[in-house]
Parts: sequence; C-alpha cells; structure tokens
Amino acid sequence: MNLLTRGFISTVIAADLLAVVYFGGTYILTGSMLPHAEAPHIIVAGAEDASSTAASTPKAAEPAFDSTTYIANVENGMKVAAKCKACHTFENGGANRTGPNLWGIVGASVAHINGFAYSSAMVAKKAEFGTWDKEHLNAYLESPKEYVPGTKMQFNGIKKPAERADLLAYLETLK
Ligand code: HEC
Repeated sequence: MNLLTRGFISTVIAADLLAVVYFGGTYILTGSMLPHAEAPHIIVAGAEDASSTAASTPKAAEPAFDSTTYIANVENGMKVAAKCKACHTFENGGANRTGPNLWGIVGASVAHINGFAYSSAMVAKKAEFGTWDKEHLNAYLESPKEYVPGTKMQFNGIKKPAERADLLAYLETLK
C-alpha cells in the first residue's frame, strides 16, 4: 500500500464517518435519514388517507338523522321556507297565492283556508286524517306527490330530514 492509496482510503473513511454523523444526526433530530423529508411525508400521508377513505366508501353514508336528539334551528327553517314563498305567504292574514296562506298551519285542519280551491286529493286527506300535526306535515313536505297523490302543490319536497325539522320548527312559531 503506497502513500497515495493510504491517503485515499483515509479520505474515504473520513467521508463515511462524516456521512454517518450527518445522516445519523439528522435521523436523531427528525426521525428520518433524509433531511426535510418529514414535512412533505405528513401531507402526503394525510392526502392518502382522505382519498383511500373516499375510494373505499364512495358514498360515505350521512349520519342517520335522529329526530329525538336533533335540535331544530328556527332561523334555518326560515331560510328553507324561502323555497315556498313563490306560492305561499306566511304572515297572519297573508294572501293566498298559488297555494294557501300558511299562518298557523301546524295544528290547523287539512285544507284549512275556507274558499281556497284545494284539490279533491287534499279534501280527501281532510276526511282521512283531519289535522296537520308535525308528523303529517313532515311526510307531506318530504314528498307532496307521494303523500297526497293528486295534490295541486307542484313541489318536489324537502328531502333532508334536518331541513324539514328546521322548517317545521319555523312553521310552529307562526301562531
Ligand atoms: C309551486 C307552488 C308551491 C310551492 C313551491 C309550495 N307549495 Fe305548498 N301548496 C301549493 C298548493 C297549490 C297547495 C294546495 C294543494 C292541494 O290543494 O292539493 C299547497 C298546499 C300546502 C299545504 C296544505 C295547506 C292546507 O291548508 O291544508 C301545506 C302545509 C303546504 N302547501 C306547505 C308548503 C311548504 C312548507 C312549502 C315549501 C317547503 C310549499 N308548500 C311549497 C303550492 C305550493
């Protein structure tokens, strides 16, 4: 081994030692051999989690609606009622439009406005269950055409149970 080779080898050893100290130090400090690898790794891991959950459960089921524990929001119900205002007024003594005025509708009789031209389907419901309690209103407002086949109310319904609960809470204040 000549002097040159020895010099080379010790340089290599020194470089190795440096590397061990450098990467070892980085490892101790950050938990990773590669400097700065940690932060992007966390972001990627999070993204993977989100996408893999979405992929395995494409339609993540909404938590089941529980009417016994749900706390209805009157203010939100007022916003939902905006969908009705093309056809209904809500004020005491308000005019009938395409649909009848809805002041006091919770607890009122079905077809509650004398002189409004209700469909015969609605008049039949008056004979069938009589009063708009919250259960009947809830079912009608979910799907008017299914609950009162032949109704004149051209409205698809409020499909989200929480929105209907909010709407009903608002309707209850109209008395
Ligand atoms: C496109 C017009 C239209 C829209 C929108 C509409 N309705 Fe009606 N609604 C009617 C008509 C017309 C009737 C009468 C139905 C019949 O005679 O079959 C009616 C009847 C009703 C009745 C029964 C009233 C009674 O005296 O028995 C209720 C309750 C009611 N609507 C609530 C609502 C609510 C709440 C909304 C909004 C979420 C709404 N409607 C949206 C037109 C509408």
